[in-house]
Amino acid sequence: MITLPERNNVLIAPSLLSADFARLGQEVKALEEGGADWLHFDVMDGRFVPNISVGIPVLKSLRAITALPIDVHLMIVEPDSMLPAFAKAGADTLTVQAEACTHLHRTLQNIHALGCRAGVALNPHTSIHCLEYVMELVDFVLVMTVNPGFGGQAYIDSCTSKIASLREKYPDLPIEVDGGIKSDTIRRAAAAGANIFVSGSGIFSQPDYSEAIQCLRTECRNA
Ligand code: DX5
Ligand code: ZN
Repeated sequence: MITLPERNNVLIAPSLLSADFARLGQEVKALEEGGADWLHFDVMDGRFVPNISVGIPVLKSLRAITALPIDVHLMIVEPDSMLPAFAKAGADTLTVQAEACTHLHRTLQNIHALGCRAGVALNPHTSIHCLEYVMELVDFVLVMTVNPGFGGQAYIDSCTSKIASLREKYPDLPIEVDGGIKSDTIRRAAAAGANIFVSGSGIFSQPDYSEAIQCLRTECRNA
């Protein structure tokens, strides 16, 4: 199982959703050389979110070409039946949306039984209180700072206080943020207490991924 970062350790996780899928292998190599810590892999089913992305065969192909941890974000309804296939295809983390899990406690147990780290994602409208009785099974929380479904959306500023509340309540919890993370917004999320940063368009819109990743790290340090 992968090691999760300590509170003061910052991870940058480029979201492959904004990559050029016709050149995915080269994109991954460029991210590796550019210093990415994790690869964020967005799975969308056209039901939980109004978009469809990639799934198990693509994950399996990526697993074969990279040693970087692959952070799988499942934006799908009823994820339980799909968890074993994603684990087998090479996921290091499996993050489920709290809103998609009727039996979140059981789902988190299932993820651990598959040997993966378990993340819980919260949509912008979802309170942190839903985590209270499952925290012993949560390896990290993913605070969505956009309504999931698409890359390139604007950071929702009201989510910043949610990050701060989580950090206050759980001082050692790894907190990931996803949605609209760029060189300006990352400062707000970092100052509030996030330490794992997903960025899609913020990295892929730049000509040099290494510079883009470095810039995000610097902004975190200055937050
Ligand atoms: C959104 C996805 C994100 C998305 C982020 O539903 O979960 O991971 O790719 O893209 P940006 O960084 O462009 O907002
Ligand atoms: Zn995501």
